[in-house]
Amino acid sequence: MNDKTIDSILEETRQFPPSKESSTGANITKEELEQLKKQASDDYEGFWAQLAKENLYWFKEFTTVLNEENAPNYEWFGDGEINVSYNCLDKNVESSPNKTAIIFEAENGDTRRISYKELLEEVSLFANGLLSLGVETGDRVIIYMPMSPEAVVAMQACARIGAIHSVVFGGFSSNALKDRIDDAKAKIVITADGAFRGGKTIPLKQATDNALKDWNHSIEHVIVLKRTGESVSILEGRDLWWKDLIKNQNKESTPVPLSSEHPLFILYTSGSTGKPKGIQHSSGGYLLHAKMTFKWIFDIKDSDVFWCTADVGWVTGHTYVTYGPLAAGATILIYEGAPTYPHGGRFWEICEKHQVSLFYTAPTAIRALMKLGDDIPNKYDLSNLRLLGTVGEPINPEAWMWYHTVIGKEKCPIVDTWWQTETGAAMISPLPGVTATKPGSCTQALPGISVDIVDEGANPVNQPNKGGYLVIKKPWPSMLRTIWGDNERYIETYWEKFDNKYYVAGDSANMDQDDFFWIMGRIDDVLNVSGHRLGTMEVESALVAHPDIAEAAVVGMPHEVKGEGIFAFVVTKGERPLGAMKNEVTETLRSWVSDQVGPIAKPDEIRFSDNLPKTRSGKIMRRLLRSIAKGEEITQDVSTLEDESIIKQLQQNE
Ligand code: WTA
Repeated sequence: MNDKTIDSILEETRQFPPSKESSTGANITKEELEQLKKQASDDYEGFWAQLAKENLYWFKEFTTVLNEENAPNYEWFGDGEINVSYNCLDKNVESSPNKTAIIFEAENGDTRRISYKELLEEVSLFANGLLSLGVETGDRVIIYMPMSPEAVVAMQACARIGAIHSVVFGGFSSNALKDRIDDAKAKIVITADGAFRGGKTIPLKQATDNALKDWNHSIEHVIVLKRTGESVSILEGRDLWWKDLIKNQNKESTPVPLSSEHPLFILYTSGSTGKPKGIQHSSGGYLLHAKMTFKWIFDIKDSDVFWCTADVGWVTGHTYVTYGPLAAGATILIYEGAPTYPHGGRFWEICEKHQVSLFYTAPTAIRALMKLGDDIPNKYDLSNLRLLGTVGEPINPEAWMWYHTVIGKEKCPIVDTWWQTETGAAMISPLPGVTATKPGSCTQALPGISVDIVDEGANPVNQPNKGGYLVIKKPWPSMLRTIWGDNERYIETYWEKFDNKYYVAGDSANMDQDDFFWIMGRIDDVLNVSGHRLGTMEVESALVAHPDIAEAAVVGMPHEVKGEGIFAFVVTKGERPLGAMKNEVTETLRSWVSDQVGPIAKPDEIRFSDNLPKTRSGKIMRRLLRSIAKGEEITQDVSTLEDESIIKQLQQNE
């Protein structure tokens, strides 16, 4: 099996040139792409300045484009004034007030359509509500909500008044929520009584209450959307219902002109140490690249229905649900629930029902749906689809081909978009009217984006198929500005490796003979589980927080559906559990981690041993653990190991 997979990757020479349909009338043609690339290389700042002027509305035009004075803390359009929500809503209401902004599909099949005009009204009511609670420009607001139009309303309302939102994925536990509230020193939490998912409800308000219990936090109010109708406790004076907050508010609100550099949001993401990093994004630069990439990559047309399946708790749900598409005046679809509920064809049923034309999802979902067989998608009319996208992790050629043939019926270009929470928007991606795609490659950098692969000495790796560090060589408008409250960590994590010259993405990659990029994976201790980033340290910290656990080491292992699974090696404080006891402790630890971080962090496999393999200087031998997790033969030198017998224990799973 392994040999076969390796072979098929090595043989991956298939190429799919853009079809006539996708290149005719594309937002970017071959000539335009060449023109854009030329402009960017002739006059980098001029290129971005022109796009910013043509594509965004500025309350006050900028006079400086890129400020490098405090590099690597770059600034873009810094003296310009802008309002993100004005660009997403008011501008579109002026031109097409009745165009549908959001189609909402509830898990139970109910549908709601919201026009741009209605969306602006809802955002204004809610923005005024926030103001009435004393929320000021620069205050932090946590959004811990189900996938819903209201999540978008909450984000846009914050943007309107200059409050900095930090969306926390609804699948995270109260502990994870608490850490984020604490780090951001937030004033408000916006949540719901609960969320529907997979036929069950997730008690979000209860998790919020737990997060706020017993400590001296900064939260003044909790706003609660009624969604599931289950009973929740309301703390008088602190908590209030969404509908009561907006009841007597004005339907109009003034968008606040903000510096282009004003932080639009903080989004926490995992790094190689235990503490999540608050990635801070800007207003003008972020919105520019979100909007441009949306138009270029998804080739949006007025009649399209765009569905990005990502939750708003992740960066994809920021850039390609809330900001990019709305700035471009598109119609988006938001689905509340689980991909396979109540049946395996739910995604395809939604595509048919709402005539989705552009569909953007993650490899893990594609693999999961592929496993259910072709008969399921074949039952639905997918003829409206004209473009498919993928993001979050490398897509294996097999899943790519399935997406291409069974879902795209060999007529939809596939855009494999490489980017990160930190980059704000897509950086490497095919353009559907121009780029010939190859299964598994995210192809080439977008106009104005300068990506390369370098070795330890920062020299470009010019050899085809040779791996190296993926770096970005020039600052770009939607780049992260810093890590919230920790600029040193920002510099250390992303810049120091190559003397602050290049942004280091943390991925390894190679380029083939056509200069196409192939992402190989993370180079740090970050796992990519179902397209979601998790630090090994986060899971380790959660494990050792359990009273019975002395030590833990976590590594990734290949997983058929999730891409990467979580493999934990654990040393208990008492006797090493054996037999039935082992299963019991395994289950206890799995749900413990789920409570501490969230269900996505649950280890797939746990192995117990009397000790962890360490070098004589006390370092855990992670490479060795990775080999054991993969079931590989141990070929590395173990002579530095303190106790060699540990290896047998770990391998044999006794
Ligand atoms: C990985 C998601 C291969 C990569 C937008 C990156 C990908 C991390 C791709 C960022 C892709 C994302 N091909 N790998 N098309 N897209 N990745 O911050 O390792 O959740 O560094 O942002 O996902 O994950 P994040």
